[in-house]
This record gives sequence, C-alpha cells and structure tokens, in this order.
Amino acid sequence: MGLSAPSISSVKVRNGADPLVMVTAYDAPGARIASAAGADIILVGDSVAMVVLGYDDTLQVTVDDMVHHIAAVARAKPNCHIVGDLPWMSYHVSPEDTVRNAAALMRAGAHSVKLEGGRKRLPMIEKIIDAEIPVMGHIGLTPQSVHAMGGFKVQGRQAEQARKLVQAAKSLEHAGCYALVLEGVPVRVAQAVTEAVSIPTIGIGAGPHTDGQVLVYHDLLGLEDRMIPKFVRRYADLNSASVEAIQAFASDVRSGAFPDECESYHMADDQAAELLGLYGHTD
Ligand code: KIV
Repeated sequence: MGLSAPSISSVKVRNGADPLVMVTAYDAPGARIASAAGADIILVGDSVAMVVLGYDDTLQVTVDDMVHHIAAVARAKPNCHIVGDLPWMSYHVSPEDTVRNAAALMRAGAHSVKLEGGRKRLPMIEKIIDAEIPVMGHIGLTPQSVHAMGGFKVQGRQAEQARKLVQAAKSLEHAGCYALVLEGVPVRVAQAVTEAVSIPTIGIGAGPHTDGQVLVYHDLLGLEDRMIPKFVRRYADLNSASVEAIQAFASDVRSGAFPDECESYHMADDQAAELLGLYGHTD
C-alpha cells in the first residue's frame, strides 16, 4: 500500500522531508511501472478522460469509469498510496451522493479520494471525511471548471486572486484535507500557499517550491504527442518508440521474418509423421 494518508499529511520539505513523487496511472501495467520506479503516490486521475479515453476535457468520465480504472490499478498491488479522483458532478449534488461516490472509489481500491475546488466544496469534504475517507484537495487551475474559467488558464496571477487561493488552501487544511494539489499557478503563489499550510502541497505547473510534484503518466513518458503543456518535462519518447516497434513488427510480418522457429510450437517427429500420413503434408 505504501504511505498512508496520515503519514503523507506530515511531509513538508521545510521540515527536511523529501518531496513527494506522485504520478498518474490508469491500469495495472501503469501501476506496476509507477511502483517499480518508486513513486510515493499513484493518482488515478480523471485525466484518464483525455489521455486514455480520447475526450477533449475531463467532464465526460463517470464514477463507474473511475471505479473501473482504480480497480485495475489496485489489482496490480503497487507499493504506493492510491488516490482516486472524484469526477465532475460526483460531489456537487448532495452529501449523500458525494459520500456514496467517494465510497465507491474506496471499495474499488483507492486509499483516499481527491476533489477539485476551494471553499464552496467544504461541506462535501467534511461529509466525506466524516465517513472516514481521507481527502486530497485540488486548487488553482481545476480542469473540471474549464468552462467556468474560460479555458485551461493559469490561476492566481492577480494578487487578490492569489490571496483567495491562500485562503482556500487554509480552509481545506482546516476542513481536514491531508494534502493539496496546486495546479497551474505562478511560482510565488505556490510558495505562499505552501508556506501557509502544514499539509503537503503537490504541484503541477506550480514551480519548484511545493512539497511534491505530480505529472500525468502519458505526458512524462511522451505517450501523449498532441499537446505539450509548458510545465511538462518529457523523460522518454514512448510514442516514437512504440510507432517504431510496431513498424518493425509490420515489416517482419510482411517479409515473412516473423515468427521464426523459436517463436513457433512444434510436434514430436512421430506425431508429425502420422499427420503427414493423414494429409500428405504438415505445413
Ligand atoms: O486528473 C489528473 O491527472 C489530475 C492531475 C493533473 C493533478 O488531477
């Protein structure tokens, strides 16, 4: 299982801790890779909508979709804390629905849930925490608000907006969140938020002064080749490597070079001779 939510809650770089490493994953092989690489936290993010399911935003995924992907990640038994992302409209309608939806993600194998938004989400966050489910907050650029924000835009560039983000972070901490994702905010804002709270901040497009960093699996491995946000660093080019590998397979199939003897199954000679007797030839 890796780290628990309570142990994550005390990770602060200013107290000498190593920064938290979080990466998204959406299936069993991805979870095994993240675990083998030593990630602390796997986020089964609603980004699955865009990087796996082909949607243009994250609004299309449902609780059932998230349950499906969280369960696949959990079956891999990674040595990581698994965070399940609550999708849009799963925590906006009623406290009962919200707790039921958070519980569905936990039953699928998450160790905690994440949801987007600041002060207006506090009543739902409190209900989830009352049900003994740890909650990770997410403020700044919150992709589920893409239409309300007028696009995927950096948040907190104005001092007043930045002040509100610091206030939101403090409220989320006060409500009991064990950690916060800070997405798409200027470095100074991430720094101010990180200083203002005693729970860890995990940044994405938030500069180097947070208590951890998260990247989307397909971005960091270079599997996603359509859009490269400024904050992404690519550590591999698996898209090109995959295209080249499948081109090589296609070429071997077309030339007859695949499969070879070692990649094929064989019969004992006597059985092959009997088959030859029946049909005249064995191939
Ligand atoms: O869904 C996701 O991948 C996220 C990260 C970008 C933090 O919420």
